[in-house]
Amino acid sequence: MAAKRSLRDATVRGRRVLVRVDFNVPQTPTGEVADDHRILEALPTLRHLESQGARTILLAHLGRPGGRKDMRYSLRPVVHRLSRYLGRPVPLAEDCVGISAVQHAARLENGGFLMLENLRFHPGEEANDPAFAQQLAQLGEFFVEEAFGSVHRAHASTVGVPSRLPAVAGFLVEREVQELSQLTDGVERPYVALLGGAKVADKLPILEGVVGRADTILLGGALAFPFLAARGAELGATAVAPGLEEPIARFLAKVAHRGTRLELPVDWIVERPGEREVGYCPAMKVPAGAIARDIGPNTRDLFHEALTGSRTVFWNGPLGKAEELRFSAGTREVLAGLGTLAGHHVLAGGDSARVAQELGVEGAFQFMSTGGGAALEFVAGMELPGLAVLPDA
Ligand code: 3PG
Repeated sequence: MAAKRSLRDATVRGRRVLVRVDFNVPQTPTGEVADDHRILEALPTLRHLESQGARTILLAHLGRPGGRKDMRYSLRPVVHRLSRYLGRPVPLAEDCVGISAVQHAARLENGGFLMLENLRFHPGEEANDPAFAQQLAQLGEFFVEEAFGSVHRAHASTVGVPSRLPAVAGFLVEREVQELSQLTDGVERPYVALLGGAKVADKLPILEGVVGRADTILLGGALAFPFLAARGAELGATAVAPGLEEPIARFLAKVAHRGTRLELPVDWIVERPGEREVGYCPAMKVPAGAIARDIGPNTRDLFHEALTGSRTVFWNGPLGKAEELRFSAGTREVLAGLGTLAGHHVLAGGDSARVAQELGVEGAFQFMSTGGGAALEFVAGMELPGLAVLPDA
């Protein structure tokens, strides 16, 4: 992808700069920030703006409050963490548009920061409503896209605002584009995509784009269930995403046509309701009442063999219910094995980063993208609206 106009070349002193960040961080059950990787990754851009005397206004979302003000999704805990890192209190305007935002923005001094409350408290954000985008844009004079994790969304803050103001890419977005471009332009082969996690219906159209790019695709976790079901597997009481027969048939036809190697699990670790002890079974025959929870030992070996000799690996999504220790061995062992292999390894997504951290296998990766869906769409070669709107360098 062509390089985008960069913050590095922009004059920002004294200007009100709207910065879209992706601070959609995982939270603890009590609402605290559980993982601040995305906050840390935005700091170089924020410190640059501070040192250059910009008046920085941060735009962000948290969770999916559905266009209504719901304080469970307030950015307050995020602002606390950010203030600590910046070494100064960052005020939070209680609404991202209207009088409170305007008054706070007017009080900003050179080098100062302001954060606006969750953009998704307004339906206009996800709808990219022109009037809402205009209200946001009026708060600033210049726009910096730093929310790589959200550039696959055509929302008011990612498309509406940058189409109304002079816009540039922030340092994180620049680095993400540079790093992930290594997986699209002249990727070193063999190239293996190791994919898991849930949200199967969302991911399926994107996976089609990975066929023909990756030489091998390994599917684990809940992502594999409908593929196995399409091959006639009995999956016991496992919840299988319904209604995907047609896109799966299309995907499999493309795999066959392109000669892509596709591997699905051959065995599972299963849970039987009410039992602490886990069970084990072939992937095609989960006993009645049991639930597939993790890839089994033969699948770990199969995936390790498929990864051996690769030059590039892209990983997104755990291979089982990795947040539970008894179902984490599949993800942990496959990634630990990956750590022993040479090649360029890229991880994508906040949840995957957290799993890798918890399992102690981050060392297997040279680059950890802050984007989940965004990184997946990028490597699948799709156009990302939040990048397309930024002018080329
Ligand atoms: C993400 O976490 O992938 C981004 O912040 C986008 O969030 P969304 O999937 O709710 O749009």
